[in-house]
Amino acid sequence: MEKKLVVGNIGMKFGMSHVEGAMNYGAEIAAICDCDPDNLRFAGERYGIPEEKWVTDYHDIINNPEINVVSVAIPDQQHKQVCCELLAAGKHVLCEKPLALTREDVEEIVKAAEESDCKFMVGQICRFTPSFEKAKEIIDAGTIGELYFVESEYAHDYMHIVENKDGSAHWRADPNRHGVIGGGCHAVDLLRWLAGDPKEVFAYGTHKLLPTVSYDDATIAIMKFDEDLAGKVFVSTGCKRDYTMRTVIYGTKGTIICDNTSPTMTLFTTDENGDTQEPQTIELEVNNHNAVKEFEVFADCIINNKKVPTDAREGAKTVEVCRAIVESAETGKIVNPNYEF
Ligand SMILES: NC(=O)c1ccc[n+]([C@@H]2O[C@H](COP(=O)([O-])OP(=O)(O)OC[C@H]3O[C@@H](n4cnc5c(N)ncnc54)[C@H](O)[C@@H]3O)[C@@H](O)[C@H]2O)c1
Repeated sequence: MEKKLVVGNIGMKFGMSHVEGAMNYGAEIAAICDCDPDNLRFAGERYGIPEEKWVTDYHDIINNPEINVVSVAIPDQQHKQVCCELLAAGKHVLCEKPLALTREDVEEIVKAAEESDCKFMVGQICRFTPSFEKAKEIIDAGTIGELYFVESEYAHDYMHIVENKDGSAHWRADPNRHGVIGGGCHAVDLLRWLAGDPKEVFAYGTHKLLPTVSYDDATIAIMKFDEDLAGKVFVSTGCKRDYTMRTVIYGTKGTIICDNTSPTMTLFTTDENGDTQEPQTIELEVNNHNAVKEFEVFADCIINNKKVPTDAREGAKTVEVCRAIVESAETGKIVNPNYEF
């Protein structure tokens, strides 16, 4: 069991939030890595990390025996290769979402993680978002009764983040990196956390906003969970509006309306006659990338040998539902996600 966490961070764009999470926890940062020296320098200077701890090759992190925890925040296509190498080297791994893009890569990571003695976490950050944590707490307390319909959306304009400045293909434009898998995985994972694993999905897609990608930029999926529980996910990666993950959770005794970008949520409850009461407004912190809490949870799992809530299998199930949605939109058929990994 680890007593002291010594961290290496790979990928210095979104991955800077992992550096903040580890620093806030009080972990030692032994190395930061980025293959782009400019991004590496920017992050190193921003967090006051001495230059001798900057590396451009992630193997220098793998080969550093002092480092026992590594965060991976590089393009999704590389997650499998880097995570499997890290696990084989005996490092605990925090990997960004989505776990991977293909069934084959997902299966390899699950196998490597489950064969390892180390902890593996996929950064499904919505589970640490204050509004969604509050919604889960209200559901678990029974306040809104039994769920019968859950919906979430991921609407985020990718227009400026799917093209490289030099005109070359961006990793986000890879057909395997469909918007439902890359970004929509947040909404899918949230619904899985709140309502369980969907048994069937059906979807339609449209493509009007992002000419530089080959995949649909809007997708609407409906899904069947257990008996008498249905759901809906809407993903738009070209939308002309501010980023949102508006989420509505309908129960037999009440309803929750929330969003990761809103400072309030609305809660409807009922009295003993089943009549709907005046809505309550609950104030919340807006923190849709709560990497501090995410790292705290991971550190607790490592130090106290607890099960990681979003382990490789959880990350794999979320990718599987996303892939089922994409397949349904392409084939026009209902798809049953396959959770056997
Ligand atoms: N949780 C969230 O809300 C969220 C938000 C954004 C991105 N992400 C995820 O984080 C990951 C990174 O996304 P991003 O937005 O930072 O991408 P990005 O392309 O902006 O940055 C990736 C960084 O990794 C570096 N890099 C690439 N390959 C590398 C390698 N082999 N070794 C070292 N450095 C390498 C690049 O130089 C770049 O600095 C992706 O998996 C993405 O899906 C998650």
